[in-house]
Amino acid sequence: MRKGEKVFFGIAALLTVAALYRVAGPAGEGTPKPPRDYTLWTETAQEGYRLYKSKGCNSCHRVLRMGEIGVAPVLDGEGTRRSEQWLTDYFTDPARLVEGTAHDGSLGPDFRRLGTEERKLLTAFMYSLRSNPGSSNYPVPPQDDGPAGPDNETEQEGQR
Ligand code: HEC
Repeated sequence: MRKGEKVFFGIAALLTVAALYRVAGPAGEGTPKPPRDYTLWTETAQEGYRLYKSKGCNSCHRVLRMGEIGVAPVLDGEGTRRSEQWLTDYFTDPARLVEGTAHDGSLGPDFRRLGTEERKLLTAFMYSLRSNPGSSNYPVPPQDDGPAGPDNETEQEGQR
């Protein structure tokens, strides 16, 4: 091989590798896609998660691939559907926000009885649960404080 050819093939090889890298990418995809559901694991959120599990919330709710479906709303993406204030208010007096709520002790745990610290931790955990567009847990249309978008109750009706 002449010197000019060596340089030519060298450059061609480099370009091929660069092109393959772009197509296959470091993670095997072109543009990295944001995760559909994700959690902002602050320390309080993690503590809240431990409290959530210890209180048996999973016996009605599903979150992070654990717990029941069909009894109560799936809580993945809860922090995208609801504001921090809504959650704090809900854990303080759920009946003010949801008519006929299960959380006045009629079915689920009575949130009015939560201690200040428990309320803070559960709110932190719920607020850490986020979703992106593309997730079935993303509110449609996007909203903060209104009733949850693709209503979980409608889905449950069909499942019953
Ligand atoms: C016996 C079943 C049951 C258990 C146990 C239960 N929940 Fe619920 N939860 C419900 C039902 C039903 C709803 C539907 C809304 C309502 O009734 O207020 C709900 C709604 C919620 C919501 C509001 C969802 C939304 O955005 O509309 C949150 C947050 C929540 N629960 C958190 C918890 C936490 C935290 C625990 C554990 C301490 C828990 N739940 C345990 C039945 C339950």
